[in-house]
Amino acid sequence: MAPTIALKALTLFSHLFALVVRGIRTIAGRKRTLEDHLWRKPSSEDRRSPCPMLNALANHGYLPRDGKDISLARLITGLQDSINLAPDATLLVGLVGVKASTTGKRFTLHLDDLAKHGVIEHDGSLSRHDVHDPPPADNKTFAPEVWATTAAYLSQNESISIETAARARRARIAAAKEANPAFAMSKKDLQGSALETCAYLRVFGEGTRGRARWEQVKVLFEEERLPFEEGFKRSEKMITISDLLVLSGKLDAVPQEGTPSN
Ligand code: HEM
Repeated sequence: MAPTIALKALTLFSHLFALVVRGIRTIAGRKRTLEDHLWRKPSSEDRRSPCPMLNALANHGYLPRDGKDISLARLITGLQDSINLAPDATLLVGLVGVKASTTGKRFTLHLDDLAKHGVIEHDGSLSRHDVHDPPPADNKTFAPEVWATTAAYLSQNESISIETAARARRARIAAAKEANPAFAMSKKDLQGSALETCAYLRVFGEGTRGRARWEQVKVLFEEERLPFEEGFKRSEKMITISDLLVLSGKLDAVPQEGTPSN
């Protein structure tokens, strides 16, 4: 797929932006140590989001631990330093995320702002309730009873294939539809939800081949921790928008259960 001019401009801008931010950090002489990135449980004052990855990064100090007033620059460097996500990929999602901001400052957000339904947050999540589930509906916090449906698929083998990830996602969407009379997912929600599945496959898997380590994915969702102890290593190759789109194409191509593949 030929990238559009807008996407090319975003890529160029975000990479330059990341370089400038990094340059300023070097001039300021701020050296990060291993200590800075130890996992710590958030306090009751800290803000957290419906995204297990952003929460894990805040728990490790790659993002502000209090989850407040996070700038796009901080998102870009935090995601690059921790999981090597390309600046344009972060910016693409981050620019949508700041539409939900309640900080009163342009281009910043609190993590819990991301729970605003309909901006990025959607129904049919892998591990969170829908916003319209029976009260007390909490569309932001990890919900073991929701995750159980997803985990039943993902835990079948040591590594998660693209097929299994697709089936887990479809099963969760079907379960949400069944449980929530107000269930609704737009085309944009479905694309977002697919990209979230692709994101964990790419971060914990083998390039764009899937095979994400179940043990590592489980730690991300259940503990909101980067699974260093379980063998997680930051991808040497930058994780790009194109990687996620390739995975998304493969996810879409998985036949519905019961449908012959040819
Ligand atoms: C700027 C970067 C990011 C933003 C603003 C963001 C935001 C969000 C939001 C708002 C949701 C909630 C969607 C919902 O279920 O209703 C979400 C879910 C999710 N995000 Fe992120 N995210 C970002 C980056 C990442 C990255 C790099 C990963 C890599 C693993 C990731 C993994 C996930 C997963 C797996 C979910 C689904 C959670 C679930 O369905 O239970 N996100 N993200």
